[in-house]
Amino acid sequence: MQLTFLTTPIYYVNAQPHLGHAYTTIAADVYARHMRQRGEDVFFLTGTDEHGDKNARVAAELGLTPQAFVDRNSANFLRMTEDVRATQDFFIRTTDEGHMTFVQDFLQTLKDNGHVYEGTYEGLYCTGCEAFYKEEELKDGLCPDHGTKPEWLQESNWFFRLSAFQEPLLAHYDANPDFVSPQSRFNEARAFIAGGLEDVSLSRASIDWGVPLPWAPDQTCYVWFDALLNYASSLTYARPGEDLTARYWPPRWQLLAKDILKFHAVIWPAMLMGANRSLPQRLMIHGYLTVRDTKMSKSLGNVLDPFAVIERYGVDALRYYLLRDVRFGSDGGISYDAVHERYHAELANDLGNLVNRVTAMIERYRDGIVPNAACDPTIASAIEASREAVATHIHELELTEALDAAWLVVRDLNRFVEEQAPWTLAKNPARAAELDVVLYTLADGTRAAAILLAAVLPESAPRILTALGAPDDVDWEHAAPNLLAAGAVVAPAGPLFPHIEESLGGDVV
Ligand code: MSP
Repeated sequence: MQLTFLTTPIYYVNAQPHLGHAYTTIAADVYARHMRQRGEDVFFLTGTDEHGDKNARVAAELGLTPQAFVDRNSANFLRMTEDVRATQDFFIRTTDEGHMTFVQDFLQTLKDNGHVYEGTYEGLYCTGCEAFYKEEELKDGLCPDHGTKPEWLQESNWFFRLSAFQEPLLAHYDANPDFVSPQSRFNEARAFIAGGLEDVSLSRASIDWGVPLPWAPDQTCYVWFDALLNYASSLTYARPGEDLTARYWPPRWQLLAKDILKFHAVIWPAMLMGANRSLPQRLMIHGYLTVRDTKMSKSLGNVLDPFAVIERYGVDALRYYLLRDVRFGSDGGISYDAVHERYHAELANDLGNLVNRVTAMIERYRDGIVPNAACDPTIASAIEASREAVATHIHELELTEALDAAWLVVRDLNRFVEEQAPWTLAKNPARAAELDVVLYTLADGTRAAAILLAAVLPESAPRILTALGAPDDVDWEHAAPNLLAAGAVVAPAGPLFPHIEESLGGDVV
């Protein structure tokens, strides 16, 4: 059995979860579910990033303590993961005691290993990013991500000797050409490292809402060091009394978008090297979901509401749409109207109608009983080819390609119904055996398609299996032809993807 440790970023709780967060979580969940289908031992981690000035400020504006504020907002993110049917094995919060103790121990290790020193920091700081900027990195004097004016900060704090890791990092990149995907992000990160690294401050003197440095409790750990360590701390306390580190470390995949590339591809591996720990195997840097060509973000206020989409179309529609409409890895525009369109054209027409037609025909022509026949060889080989392709693509986190490969079976089955015209065969009793083959092929193929799609459509796949009289078991071994038992009794359900009159309209809430 393979072990798979898989992570999403931990999200800032300073505002509400939006479709951008749901996106990364859904993508990771598809991978996690797929690997579990294949019998792998998966540990899927997500959670919330709760320290830092940003939260303390918003809490103060609302008249709340920081803890009360983060408790409330973290719960919204946990609800988001539940609403998108994510199957995380642990939801970490950086205010967890187990996490905070781990951060202190880790910082002490870095210091004991000689990677930490005291100095003075001066610079332009963007609270939105919780990061310092150089003058030349700003856009017209404003933060390139938030469009706000950074503040000048000067304070004495503790530094992490990032510069010392330039050579080891380059060596790691060169020895592991798939450390960062896609290639363009690998090149970007490597070029950044090759351009020279400056030491980074790992503490803040002026911020109380954080983890105190063990050797200087008047300072708190810089929120990014605190946050990155969630990936390691979680394994030490997610299961009380058990340390999962030996079992799952290092992560097989870490998913994130390019906004936080440098933290994950430069600082994070350097921190791990500084503590003599092995590095994550691969980082997947997916693109931005954009609305009218601008990155969706809480600070810009142009967010699509995942809860509204789920309420109107169901969670499978949201999961399907996000992976289908924007090629995973690239940037892409999204809109409520596009959700509406794909829902009807693909989920309702291609898949939902197929299931209804197949079960209705078996009812009508064979009294609801799956006939005893073998799957048509063309469809059988389409299923086998798709099974290979889906697995290969998911392994590389090419999720859109994986979905496309699974959908080919749906398309082939729709073509097969039209070509074979079972309604014509049914009129001629001499062609009963042919009709058996057609009906069996349709039912068996649709069953296999449900298993191929189960990681993306966790609600519909079991419903399809039940409608076809197949066991509700999405084991990957069953993504193969000729496994539907003859004699199974179909149980036609209502429409899987009922018609929805109106789109949520426009593209911005
Ligand atoms: N708290 C930090 C991450 C710390 S990880 C140790 C943070 N949080 S965040 O709430 O801003 O989340 C950023 C992440 O959310 C992105 O890297 C991406 O995974 C996801 N996305 C947020 N908006 C998104 C889009 N518009 N498009 C794609 N992904 C989006 O940064």
